Amino acid sequence: MTMKLDSHDPRFSGIEPFASKLWLASPTMHGDEQRWVQDAFDKNWITTAGENINEVERQIAEYIGVNYAVGLSCGTAALHLAIRLAGEKLYGIPKVGHGSLEGKRVFASDMTFDATVNPITYEGGEPVFIDTERGTWNMDPVALEKAFEIYPEVKLIVVAHLYGTPGKIDEIKAVADKHGALIVEDAAESLGATYKGKQTGTFGDFAVISFNGNNLLFIKGEKVAKAA
Ligand SMILES: Cc1ncc(COP(=O)(O)O)c(C=O)c1O
Repeated sequence: MTMKLDSHDPRFSGIEPFASKLWLASPTMHGDEQRWVQDAFDKNWITTAGENINEVERQIAEYIGVNYAVGLSCGTAALHLAIRLAGEKLYGIPKVGHGSLEGKRVFASDMTFDATVNPITYEGGEPVFIDTERGTWNMDPVALEKAFEIYPEVKLIVVAHLYGTPGKIDEIKAVADKHGALIVEDAAESLGATYKGKQTGTFGDFAVISFNGNNLLFIKGEKVAKAA
C-alpha cells in the first residue's frame, strides 16, 4: 500500500515514509494450482463442499497435529467464527441479533493485522490491547499478567503470531490457564512455524491459519465440530 501523508494534519508532522521497504511475501505458484481450479469446475464443486475441501481439511489437521480442521472462505471469517464460538462457550448462546461477547472485555494483541481484533467488536466485546514484547514482536506475557490484575474478570485472549514468528505462547498459555481464560490463537501468518517443537495453531482452544497469498485455515477441531 502506498499512502500520501496529509502534510496539513498535525498528527503526521515530521513523519516521513520509509525510503526502503521490506515487502511482505508475495503469492507464488507451484505448477498445479490451475489444474485444481479446473478440477473443481469439471466436478461442479463450486460450492462450500467437495472432495478437495475435505482433503485440504484432512491434510492440514494431520500436518499441524490437531484432531479436526474446518475450511472457511478466509482467515478473517475463521477468526470471526472462532471468537463467536469462544464467546458462546464462555457466556452462553446469545439471543438472535446479539453478539456472544456483549459487555465483555477481551485481551488482544496490540500489534497485528486488524482481522485479529475486529470480531471482538462484531460480537459486542471490548478489546483491551496488551503490549508487545521486543523478542518476538508478539503479546508480552508479563503485560498480560498485569492486565489480569487490572481486569481479573476477563476470560478470553486473542493472540497473534506476527510475520510467521511465534509469540511466547507457552508463557501466554500459562497465564491464561492460571486465570481460567480461553485462547483464540491467530496463526494466520505462521502456518508451518513451530514453537519449542510444536506447530503454531495447536496451542489455542481455537486456532486459525490463512492461505492468503501473503500469509505463510483451520479451526482446532473438537470444540468447533461439536458446536457446528
Ligand atoms: C495476523 C493475521 N490475522 C488474520 C488475517 C486474515 O486472513 P485472511 O487474509 O485469510 O482473511 C491476516 C491476513 O492477512 C493476518 O495477517
